Amino acid sequence: MGALARALLWPLLAPWLLPAAPALPAAPLTLPLRVAAPAPGPGPPAADGLALALEPEPEPAGGAASFLAMVDNLRGDSGRGYYLEVLIGTPPQKLQILVDTGSSNFAVAGAPHPNIDSYFDSQRSSTYHPKGFDVTVKYTQGSWTGAVGEDLVTITKGLNASFLVNIATIFESESFFLPGIQWNGILGLAYGALAKPSSSLETFFDSLVRQAGIPNVFSMQMCGAGLPAAGSGTNGGSLVLGGIEPSLYKGDIWYTPIMEEWYYQIEILKLEVGGQSLNLDCREYNADKAIVDSGTTLLRLPLKVFNAVVDGVARASLIPEFSDGFWTGSQLACWASPETPWSYFPKISIYLRDENSSRSFRLTILPQKSQGPRCLKFLGPSQQTT
Ligand SMILES: *[C@@H]1O[C@H](CO)[C@@H](O)[C@H](O)[C@H]1NC(C)=O
Ligand SMILES: *[C@@H]1O[C@H](CO)[C@@H](O)[C@H](O)[C@H]1NC(C)=O
Repeated sequence: MGALARALLWPLLAPWLLPAAPALPAAPLTLPLRVAAPAPGPGPPAADGLALALEPEPEPAGGAASFLAMVDNLRGDSGRGYYLEVLIGTPPQKLQILVDTGSSNFAVAGAPHPNIDSYFDSQRSSTYHPKGFDVTVKYTQGSWTGAVGEDLVTITKGLNASFLVNIATIFESESFFLPGIQWNGILGLAYGALAKPSSSLETFFDSLVRQAGIPNVFSMQMCGAGLPAAGSGTNGGSLVLGGIEPSLYKGDIWYTPIMEEWYYQIEILKLEVGGQSLNLDCREYNADKAIVDSGTTLLRLPLKVFNAVVDGVARASLIPEFSDGFWTGSQLACWASPETPWSYFPKISIYLRDENSSRSFRLTILPQKSQGPRCLKFLGPSQQTT
């Protein structure tokens, strides 16, 4: 892994429901339903999030002070990711940028779009330089095409300086700027190997490391899961550039190896639902790859694993009346405020390999709601299986 070392902190994980599929109308079940006799398995939801990180490097000189300036520099909307405020160009134009560890291009809206309220106008920046070519990036959902150029960027709550970085200004996109988003650009933090059109287009973070002289490490903390209770509104988080801020976590950090430096590809050893291992061959959990991706709030699983998880949740759930329609995603379950149904559902644990030891450690995901303020829905398998 050498010099390329970056960290992701996960004190709490993103919601656990699965691939986006169109909502299917059906009469909702109403909770609370009869609750089955206490069974081994789900206890009361407990705050047992775990930290995951990859190979830290020495703290930068004077790092602690500047790290504190980065604390709480992210905003997140439930189900829509976390974004960071940046200033681009001269005079500075303010944009909100989705932080995405699942891609490696920095791109901002370069023209008006009905779903966003501002964009970067490169013609108004005296420091903007076009590079004379376009680039197209496709994500699991959505794509865009933009003109590549470079300009000065400052992270408002970050390093106290501006940096010259590559920027794609998006002039055409499809299913990328979705209704309701609060951001108007994307910051891809994965390795240069994923950068488009090729790895020779230096990534934002590599430019920052080179120009700011910070260690090649970042840490990201997303504090949204379970908060706020209504399933809407804003959550906080921190993107710490150059290291890890000690005040943001307690205990030890666990590290897991990166299998290959392109995505943050890791290896899942085991999956448990309600304390019961799914007992699949561990290759199934990693088919065709398992990655850590801050740009999605979904836990996506290969179809075979997804089906095993649904079976496991159905088995461990304390509510016997759920119909097949609920488990296949065609029926909602609803409950009366202020009750919440989380204690009826099991936890899901993901086991990862500990770096440099034969041990493993687990990330435990608590039940989350996904559909409206008082309804719960399983999102069924979709056509996408990556
Ligand atoms: C940021 O830089 C400016 C200009 O160099 C300086 O005046 C200011 O004190 C710096 N702020 C911090 C927090 O270091
Ligand atoms: C694992 O071992 C390698 C080689 O000795 C070392 O460079 C790396 O820092 C170790 N990782 C952790 C998390 O201790």
